[in-house]
Amino acid sequence: MPQAKLAQLSQALELRRAQQLLRTPVTLERYNGRLVVVAGTSYLNFCGNDYLSLATAPPVLQAYADGAAQFGAGSSGSPLVTGQHAVHQQLSDSLADWLGVERVLLFSSGFAANQAMLLTLSSKNDTLVLDKLSHASIIDAALHSEASLKRFAHNDVAALQNLLSQVSQPMVVTEGVFSMDGDSPDLAAMLTLCRRYDAPLLLDDAHGLGVLGPEGRGTAAAQGIAQSELFCTMANFGKALGTGGAFIAGSKTVIDYIEQFGRHYIYSTALPPPLCAAVLKSIELCRSDSWRRDKLHSNITLFRRLGADLPLLNSQSAIQGLVLGSSERAVAVSNQLKQRGIWLSAIRPPTVPQSSARLRITLSAAHTAEDITLLLQQLRQVL
Ligand SMILES: Cc1ncc(COP(=O)(O)O)c(C=O)c1O
Repeated sequence: MPQAKLAQLSQALELRRAQQLLRTPVTLERYNGRLVVVAGTSYLNFCGNDYLSLATAPPVLQAYADGAAQFGAGSSGSPLVTGQHAVHQQLSDSLADWLGVERVLLFSSGFAANQAMLLTLSSKNDTLVLDKLSHASIIDAALHSEASLKRFAHNDVAALQNLLSQVSQPMVVTEGVFSMDGDSPDLAAMLTLCRRYDAPLLLDDAHGLGVLGPEGRGTAAAQGIAQSELFCTMANFGKALGTGGAFIAGSKTVIDYIEQFGRHYIYSTALPPPLCAAVLKSIELCRSDSWRRDKLHSNITLFRRLGADLPLLNSQSAIQGLVLGSSERAVAVSNQLKQRGIWLSAIRPPTVPQSSARLRITLSAAHTAEDITLLLQQLRQVL
């Protein structure tokens, strides 16, 4: 065994433990969106991304089962070899129709889609201009790309303008709904700037798709912006659509280019066909069941009204952040809530900036008004 390497890894793990930053996966024995069962105990769940409660919707589960029977469990290859089945094409067409874009490419995860989007579309003379609170998958892609990297203060259009006036060949990347703060950028203002500097605007709408806009078409639609105004948009299926996988949507030229040059697309096994069948059903329900969005939004309004006295971050989305500062405090509060039957994990650095450990409360269409009232009562007592 290479002892020096192992010693180095153990030391890093020890440091994490000493900093109280060690993370361990939690095994769910049961899940239904609203409730989770962990180690034999049932908890009210306030930290998933299944915003519309589609992960356990019976028609989605049936579509999964039917898809497996019809197409087999796996795709058997990368999309440009033998991995593309009829259901992949149906899913791409359905997404293009829903979002009003020319073409869509499917990816095995949002992380992979972000790598492909930034690494493939940027080149040596470009500057990737990112929001300071960008998701790790965006930051990593930018760091690995040949382009230069600059970051602007979170959602700050003036700071963006300042950067755009200084850098060469900018490409601007932002998120529809920021994953840890739950707020959104002013896309119209960003687009005005991008036009002035001839900069493409790339959007990660992982937390906006399904939740915002007419038929859940996402953040751009909610802000009255056509998809064609954006250079491209990525989003994943593992949040509001309750399944897994991801896509990039855009004009024919942009998507044709990623199809030819995107290594995360070309050299990766295509999504399992039954998963595509489930996503197709999820999209259908997402578009037709506006009650899911209405319920989610009334839950958000109720939470913000009842929690008006708490130091919540300014968010109108399903993601409601309560910053507690130190990791120790966030973990202690999370543990106390657990003792009271509420599952709400602490989010600590490096997922969020230093000294901003928090509770990331996520609301869903599955929650009842009583659930939200109970959460706030317990939160108040614990804080
Ligand atoms: C904003 C954002 N982008 C990308 C991803 C990555 O997506 P996936 O979980 O499908 O890899 C996530 C979630 O994890 C996210 O929150």
